[in-house]
Amino acid sequence: MFNTTFYVRRLHSLCGLVCLGAVLFEHIFTNSMAMGGPAALNGALGMMELIPKPIFLGLEIGAIAVPLLFHAIYGVYIALQANNNPGRFGYVRNWCFALQRWTAWFLVVFLIWHIFYLRIFTKGITGTPISYELLQSYFTGNPIVAILYILGMFAAIFHFCNGITTFCMTWGITKGPRSQNVVSALSMGLCAVLCLVTLAFMGSYFVM
Ligand code: HEM
Repeated sequence: MFNTTFYVRRLHSLCGLVCLGAVLFEHIFTNSMAMGGPAALNGALGMMELIPKPIFLGLEIGAIAVPLLFHAIYGVYIALQANNNPGRFGYVRNWCFALQRWTAWFLVVFLIWHIFYLRIFTKGITGTPISYELLQSYFTGNPIVAILYILGMFAAIFHFCNGITTFCMTWGITKGPRSQNVVSALSMGLCAVLCLVTLAFMGSYFVM
């Protein structure tokens, strides 16, 4: 019999790793240009403006909004059903499992705020282009905003990197505890590197 839940869950998993993972990497890469100063970041943002508007909008909707909405809505449904203490995992994995859920809830609130304020209101409704100068005054004008952005990025990075470990389990790529521990250690290493890059580019707005 066709098991819809199985396939929807697999799609949710693939969507998180591939589509949203790609968006996360692109985001960190573009934003890290801030470390090179206004010319570097504005240049990187300007490159995207070279893509014809209808294609860019199509990409934003098809490759970001639709996968994000699907992953977030079905993710909330999964999180509401969460059995937060699966006995088959060790102590650290229990914590990672719980953190995966907590970061998911935090991301729902953070992403609504972030996307509505910067993409929909600032860029879409007021027509103000996003630039180094705008972001610098946004973050340095209110350090609480900067702290919330750093926490939002840390949540997305942890959620994604821990997701690499659970993805490999879900898809049967890592079958035994040994390979699961190796992937888990590597993805936590990636998590630490991406968090440090985030701290570096966010910090650069305050020192330049
Ligand atoms: C917007 C709010 C989000 C919610 C509510 C959410 C929810 C969830 C939940 C509940 C899971 C666990 C699924 C399971 O146990 O089968 C999960 C897994 C995952 N999420 Fe998210 N998520 C969100 C955003 C994101 C973002 C922004 C990314 C990427 C940067 C992402 C990447 C992943 C990955 C890679 C997995 C692992 C898939 C797997 O275990 O097979 N998620 N998400």
